[in-house]
Amino acid sequence: MSEQPIIQLNDHKSIPQIGLGVWQTPNDTAVIAVEAALRNGYRHIDTAAIYGNEQGVGEGIRASGVAREQIYVTTKLWNDDQGFDSALRACETSLKKLGTDYVDLYLIHWPSPHRGLYLDSWKALVRLQEDGRARSIGVSNFGAEQLERIIGETGVKPVLNQVELHPRFQQRELREAHSRLGIATQSWSPLGQGQLLNDAVVGGIAAKHSKTPAQVLIRWHLDHNFIVIPKSVTPLRIAENFAVHDFRLDEDDRHQLDALDSADGRIGPDPNTATF
Ligand SMILES: NC(=O)c1ccc[n+]([C@@H]2O[C@H](COP(=O)([O-])OP(=O)(O)OC[C@H]3O[C@@H](n4cnc5c(N)ncnc54)[C@H](OP(=O)(O)O)[C@@H]3O)[C@@H](O)[C@H]2O)c1
Repeated sequence: MSEQPIIQLNDHKSIPQIGLGVWQTPNDTAVIAVEAALRNGYRHIDTAAIYGNEQGVGEGIRASGVAREQIYVTTKLWNDDQGFDSALRACETSLKKLGTDYVDLYLIHWPSPHRGLYLDSWKALVRLQEDGRARSIGVSNFGAEQLERIIGETGVKPVLNQVELHPRFQQRELREAHSRLGIATQSWSPLGQGQLLNDAVVGGIAAKHSKTPAQVLIRWHLDHNFIVIPKSVTPLRIAENFAVHDFRLDEDDRHQLDALDSADGRIGPDPNTATF
């Protein structure tokens, strides 16, 4: 892997702390974005079956010339495929589309509690890890009680929980549960889907450091030890989002960003009430 921060996971593996997110990126665009990211030093790509671009991600990886074993690839089990046997099948389909025989990380995308299947799905992920199809396994959008339930029933901890997280929605309570359970925190929509880029506080800090608002936000995630997966399909922005290792936020910056937390700052769906 190229030189960049990594986070140690509870299964003794590690993950590059910055990855490229590829939600809302069609296959042909994903090829270009993934190749651009890997050429710029990224070694971590975050996709999902529901994004419909696993094939493009696989093509981008091969086009980059970077060896597969140098790259950390995450994909996710979609809600319709929850359940033990269907999760095993869904993983095989994802591997085929990606053109790889393992993923570095396989996640349950949403707990989708109304289906009552996330525990069976978790048992399938445990099997996939035993079989070597997923090197690490984790979850996304899980609450503390759901985390405790799957750990209690299987004795296997997710390595991380990928959740909506940015300065306007900081998930402090859930992060405490992650610390208590030894689970890493991964931030989705780390730039607030672009909405935080025009924030005056973020802009002020960016001007002070001669950096861009996106770089300040990504630095905030890194400084909090979150794993961060900013999405861009724009090669210049992809490079910009990775060029965050030559400055640090000071205490005052961090204090100002931490103060943006808001009870109604959520942008995406609430996992407890989502019905998909
Ligand atoms: N597990 C889940 O349920 C879940 C949910 C949502 C997202 N995710 C993951 O998290 C990733 C990131 O979240 P996200 O895609 O929602 O949003 P995001 O990364 O917070 O923001 C992406 C938006 O910001 C723009 N952008 C990126 N870098 C920029 C820069 N340097 N300057 C100006 N604009 C910039 C992008 O535009 P362009 O692309 O046009 O450049 C895009 O519109 C996703 O791609 C996906 O992998 C997971």
